[in-house]
Amino acid sequence: MQGNRNERDAFAEKLFQSALGYFDLLSIRLGQRLGLYEVLAEGPVTSKDLASRTGTAERYAREWLEQQATVGILRADVGREDIVFSLPAGHAEVLLDGDSLSYMGASVWQLYTITNAFENVVDAFRTGGGVSYEAYGRDNVQGQGLGNRPVFLNTLPKEWLPNIPPMHERLTAEPPARVVDVGCGTGWSSIAIAKAYPQVTVDGFDPDEVSVELARKNAAVEGVADRVRLHRTDAAGVTTAGPFDVATAFECIHDMARPVEVLGAVRRALADDGTMLIVDERTRERFTGEPDDLEAYFYGWSIFDCLPTGMFEQPSAGTGTVMRPSILEGYARVAGFTRFQALPIEHDTFRLYLLRP
Ligand SMILES: C[S@@+](CC[C@H](N)C(=O)[O-])C[C@H]1O[C@@H](n2cnc3c(N)ncnc32)[C@H](O)[C@@H]1O
Repeated sequence: MQGNRNERDAFAEKLFQSALGYFDLLSIRLGQRLGLYEVLAEGPVTSKDLASRTGTAERYAREWLEQQATVGILRADVGREDIVFSLPAGHAEVLLDGDSLSYMGASVWQLYTITNAFENVVDAFRTGGGVSYEAYGRDNVQGQGLGNRPVFLNTLPKEWLPNIPPMHERLTAEPPARVVDVGCGTGWSSIAIAKAYPQVTVDGFDPDEVSVELARKNAAVEGVADRVRLHRTDAAGVTTAGPFDVATAFECIHDMARPVEVLGAVRRALADDGTMLIVDERTRERFTGEPDDLEAYFYGWSIFDCLPTGMFEQPSAGTGTVMRPSILEGYARVAGFTRFQALPIEHDTFRLYLLRP
């Protein structure tokens, strides 16, 4: 089998880079599990220091430190007998600072949970069925919530909502607005809205037990449990809980087995002058067949997580992470929304849509 040499070599190089990336993720996850980065964030360490302060074996700690320096995550001062390793401040922010918009620690955490469900995904490919959230484990839910948390606590109240006039005006007006947040997960979007608009009440709906349990804890810790009510219920049942003035759905419509049913229920639960914000992946308008890093990232999540979990309940729309704007618009129109607009608000990975009855 003889291919074009340049093509062959470029592809072999690409897979080598992928292998390096795979080891980055595994070794970062190892460092997270053992609390190694927390100690490094306090200051430079030798392998003996790290081992004694983290309850790990020095020989393993040394191998990990050397690997981390070799891939460029840590810096190594080799000018001493005992090599000293340090974590640059910017790298510490990306790995450890859960408030930073650059935080990626939770994504590594969530990516790793895919390995728990890998065989279930293989089966789902054969049967056409789906995979339960439980197969991925609790860390998947935590990773998802903590990954989006900085965007919800910073970007949502400071850059997004104030730039959506009908929504912002209603959230600041009297009588206090009632907000429904469907697919609320671990509650950070509901909490962020309640904190940004101190008079509103938010009802979050999510059928996932672990998510709602964590969301209730998070709301209590953040001091908004009196205004953020979290319901362990499919959002298809939201109609009877209305009327609501504002509805939101963050990164969840593409995960739903029955998105039209949920959007229809939200539509019926909205006041006539109500508005709905949907935030979902910034996919291209259509499949181009061309290499594209962001789309490839979305397809990765889709194959291993969103599509199989969205197919667990049958019948399913089988949407997947790569939900094109036209697909969402189709769902919204069938659900009874007459106005659908992709908002001109920039973001690296998300697109914002405004829907009105
Ligand atoms: C990718 S998570 C997003 C969670 C949260 N919005 C966030 O951004 O972190 C998708 C969520 O949609 C929820 N979901 C799926 N189907 C649902 C339905 N029919 N009604 C309400 N929530 C649903 C899942 O349980 C899950 O928590």
